[in-house]
Amino acid sequence: MSQIYLDNAATSWPKPESVYRAVEDTMRQVGAPSGRAVYAAAGAANDIVEKTRQSVAGLINASSKNQVVFTANATDALSTAILGLLKPGDHAITSVADHNSILRPLMHLQQTGVITLTIVDCDDTGRVSASDIEKAIDDKTRLVAITHASNVTGTIQPVAAIGDICKKRDVRFLVDAAQSIGHISIDVEQIGCDMLAATGHKGLLGPMGTGVLYLSESIVDHVSPLRFGGTGSQHADATQPTQMPKKFEAGSLNVPAIAGLGEGVKFVHSEVGEAMQQHSDDLMKELREGLTSINGVKIFGPVEETSRTGVISISINGFDSQTAAGILDVEFEIQIRSGFHCAPLMHKRLGTDKDGLIRFSPGPFNTSVDIEFAVGAVAEIAGNA
Ligand SMILES: Cc1ncc(COP(=O)(O)O)c(C=O)c1O
Repeated sequence: MSQIYLDNAATSWPKPESVYRAVEDTMRQVGAPSGRAVYAAAGAANDIVEKTRQSVAGLINASSKNQVVFTANATDALSTAILGLLKPGDHAITSVADHNSILRPLMHLQQTGVITLTIVDCDDTGRVSASDIEKAIDDKTRLVAITHASNVTGTIQPVAAIGDICKKRDVRFLVDAAQSIGHISIDVEQIGCDMLAATGHKGLLGPMGTGVLYLSESIVDHVSPLRFGGTGSQHADATQPTQMPKKFEAGSLNVPAIAGLGEGVKFVHSEVGEAMQQHSDDLMKELREGLTSINGVKIFGPVEETSRTGVISISINGFDSQTAAGILDVEFEIQIRSGFHCAPLMHKRLGTDKDGLIRFSPGPFNTSVDIEFAVGAVAEIAGNA
């Protein structure tokens, strides 16, 4: 059996053929920067960027494509949102279930004395309570930043309930959709968020180096860009444009990758893509059921399939996660993610901060045979094959 890739929560692989083709065709045939010149190829590059922007806006129900900004990844989008919004004296709220892409910029602002920070707890399944968020809000609270779905347990957070509270208390709400986009439907209006950060290279099946930040019309004027420079618009002006989306898109965009992302979004939206998402949900169920039957294996996160996205993390009695991952790789050619998944507080909360966890994340191109083999390999390591 050849290598089995079960690390789609890190980055999805393989990609649909159309994604590879779009990247290569754009590099070979367009080869021009977008929005920078009047010759035809520059126009073609611009069309690619704007078409992808429209597709992403449609996917998350943004009021206009101009509310969607291209970033290098979800980390870049989250740093832009957090560092661009918060000001001296502000208070922010996040949770132990969040990824370092939210925790680190917030901790940086806290440690440099710019903001105060409250980190709310989650329950044993990784779920954060909306009422705990509400209790943490005070009159200085400017931002609640929460991960839509945990990259450790897959737990889906009650973002619409948190969005309601934020609206009622006049607090800005940022959602990290890195693990949910492409897996479950996302509607920024229904969630009631002011900003949503997402990655293009996981569930949307696009290339690495792609991400997006959605900003609502009401927040744009309150967020400063992190980067300043050429945008291809208002060339004669030495100050950064204030209009969306150029305000946040200084520097040449990664047009080939954005072309690939456009195809990824198209694929996810297509009948084939939807059937493949159903298939990968079915694989998750098979995986959970298989792992549940192994003595010495503990599964973390929610039990019901509908409360989690495409990741499942386990511990194997007698093995730390790195050792188990090494055996899976070397002896079984199974690629999974071990360790702490850039979510140190979640691991502390789960009591797994010493040995870490083994995370499986199947993708649309995996098969039942892959899952059966992986479950068999874990059973063998656990000693009950
Ligand atoms: C929950 C979560 N947020 C943010 C990120 C960062 O995503 P990116 O790699 O696109 O920066 C990840 C990536 O693993 C993630 O799982």
